[in-house]
Amino acid sequence: MSGSQRVASVSAAQAHGRLLLRDARPADRLPAGALLREALTPRLADAVFGLGGAGASRYFERLFQHPGTLWSYDITTLAELDGEVVGLVSHAPWAVLAQRRRSTLWGYWRAYGLRGLLKLIPRIRALMRASPAVPPDHWFIPCLAVAPEHRGNGVAHALLQTVYRHAEAHAPACSLYVPTSNATAREFYDRAGYVEREGVDSEVLHRLAGVRGRVRFERTLATGKPA
Ligand SMILES: CC(C)(COP(=O)(O)OP(=O)(O)OC[C@H]1O[C@@H](n2cnc3c(N)ncnc32)[C@H](O)[C@@H]1OP(=O)(O)O)[C@@H](O)C(=O)NCCC(=O)NCCS
Repeated sequence: MSGSQRVASVSAAQAHGRLLLRDARPADRLPAGALLREALTPRLADAVFGLGGAGASRYFERLFQHPGTLWSYDITTLAELDGEVVGLVSHAPWAVLAQRRRSTLWGYWRAYGLRGLLKLIPRIRALMRASPAVPPDHWFIPCLAVAPEHRGNGVAHALLQTVYRHAEAHAPACSLYVPTSNATAREFYDRAGYVEREGVDSEVLHRLAGVRGRVRFERTLATGKPA
């Protein structure tokens, strides 16, 4: 599968009550930028992708609107409530995301320019060093976030159901990372049937963003291929 193909098509938008789940488009960049910042947690997002300032959303908006990167609309499903984007999940086979690394670097170049890129690279390196290995046949969820005022209404659960519908025919399990300090998300995934696997600590990330490290969570998929 090509790294630039849409891999998470919802094809026909699916309605969950008043909630509409649909494929993201480049024009969704404004709400998507804010939600991608939430997904990473604002402090970590600003420290790494905001280059130490509060502007991570602005960079995510730029990254989101071009296809083929780890942040693009073409691996993203949105949840809409009465026409307002209230949640986002990005997801794809881990192998496809690995193929996107080079195009993501070009995306960073486009979004940050040369000076910004030079500041960004050591920060991304710190983030990657705090990223436990993912089994190559897993489906992966880089980002899941719901707007703060819409949390606790089942939006994240509805988004995850969409992910599983795509992933089940292709992968034995689904993986994602959670910052060690994000207790809310860790409990959420625990209740959603995920098992906590390995974690990696990072001194550099701690100094940059107050985040001790990241943990990989994994959930077996019901009708996935045998592991
Ligand atoms: C973690 C996060 C995605 C959860 O989103 P959410 O939309 O509030 O989650 P949900 O509403 O689906 O689930 C939360 C609770 O609401 C309950 N709920 C309320 N209405 C519901 C409904 N109609 N259907 C299903 N669950 C519902 C669920 O029971 C759930 O409780 P549970 O966790 O015990 O199952 C959200 O807090 C968030 O965006 N956090 C910041 C970003 C982040 O940490 N992302 C994850 C790290 S990558």
